[in-house]
Amino acid sequence: MVGQKKRVAVIAGDGIGPEVIDEAVRIIERVQQTHGINLELTSFDWGAERYLRDGVTLPDGALDLLRREYDAVLAGAFGDPRVPSNKHAEDILLGMRRGLDLYINLRPVRLLNARLTPLRNREVKDIDFVVFRENTEGAYCGAGGFLKKGTPDEIATQEELNTRGGVERIIRAAFEYARTRGRHRVTMADKSNVQRFGGDLWQRVFREVASRYPEVEANHQYVDAMAMFMVLDPGQYDVVVSNNLFGDILTDLGAALQGGLGLAASGNIHPGQVSVFEPVHGSAPPLAGKSVANPVGAILSTAMMLEWLGFELAATSIERAVKEAIAEDQTTRDLGGTLSTIKAGEAIASRIRVD
Ligand code: NAD
Ligand code: IPM
Ligand code: MN
Repeated sequence: MVGQKKRVAVIAGDGIGPEVIDEAVRIIERVQQTHGINLELTSFDWGAERYLRDGVTLPDGALDLLRREYDAVLAGAFGDPRVPSNKHAEDILLGMRRGLDLYINLRPVRLLNARLTPLRNREVKDIDFVVFRENTEGAYCGAGGFLKKGTPDEIATQEELNTRGGVERIIRAAFEYARTRGRHRVTMADKSNVQRFGGDLWQRVFREVASRYPEVEANHQYVDAMAMFMVLDPGQYDVVVSNNLFGDILTDLGAALQGGLGLAASGNIHPGQVSVFEPVHGSAPPLAGKSVANPVGAILSTAMMLEWLGFELAATSIERAVKEAIAEDQTTRDLGGTLSTIKAGEAIASRIRVD
């Protein structure tokens, strides 16, 4: 049963990050016992506290260290009202996404229990798709600038970068996933009716890649319409692919369809290289320090990480335990329960067993 040892870097971060990551670690400790898997966890203190203390965001050599010494990273959240510039989050989170070239942001939108969705008359099977968000370029490229800053004539530009290679690899990843996972349709969301250059590139590359996957239906929607259809008819989606910014926005909406940001999981992935797994939610400052945050997003991100590391059985057991805890109302208050973050984590841990 005991497989090869895998090394995981744990970066809890800010706000509710440490609280939900504590529960994710509890789950890892549990599956180490039940499933005999071998993970070595190392914690790093990168985040707002450290930045405010010594000015360090992502330490020198950090990305090389992750690449060299670790198989995966489990991250909490980054963002702190004491750092209004968000500089540390930019350096650490976007730094890892860009610096480790984690071009796939994989964000499942899956309803675990019909009572959780705010939509009327929807069953679990109606909300089950995955979003492939481009994760290294687009509006997140950091290009732009000010002219005459602070004057009434001020000009701010904010550029969006779309490379042929970047667009192609995320679209290809979406089709490849559809093919290998038996998904039937890939829907690409863009705003090519207005964004005539980047949108045109996405359209052309989408058609070209789609032609290599004749068994998968290729579907296109403008992103504004997709936001509407995600609410009105979420059952039509199987695999969704979009750029960095649209993918960010659509996946908060996707989180709401599943029952809230507290539930949504994600992986920042470069196949075959160290990859970063984290809940979709942020540091939620109003909830921090109160043990009310839902740990499920972090726990399901851990399951994604374990699956990605090759521990599929442990991942499946975690997902089943989460579903059971929800079905038995053993949840935090955002899902209608009464449990603290810690008790909700314990409720899931105690339901993990070898299936
Ligand atoms: P947020 O995701 O932190 O929280 C928005 C709201 O969602 C919360 O007020 C809460 O009502 C709910 N929520 C989020 N997580 C929850 C959980 N685990 N359990 C229960 N409810 C939960 O988004 P925000 O308020 O827009 O951002 C706060 C900070 O987090 C900002 O600094 C932002 O930049 C940062 N952020 C970081 C990440 C990340 O690290 N990946 C992601 C999103 C936002
Ligand atoms: C997310 C977050 C980040 C993003 C922020 C904190 C930079 O919203 O992970 O979804 O926009 O990607
Ligand atoms: Mn987001």
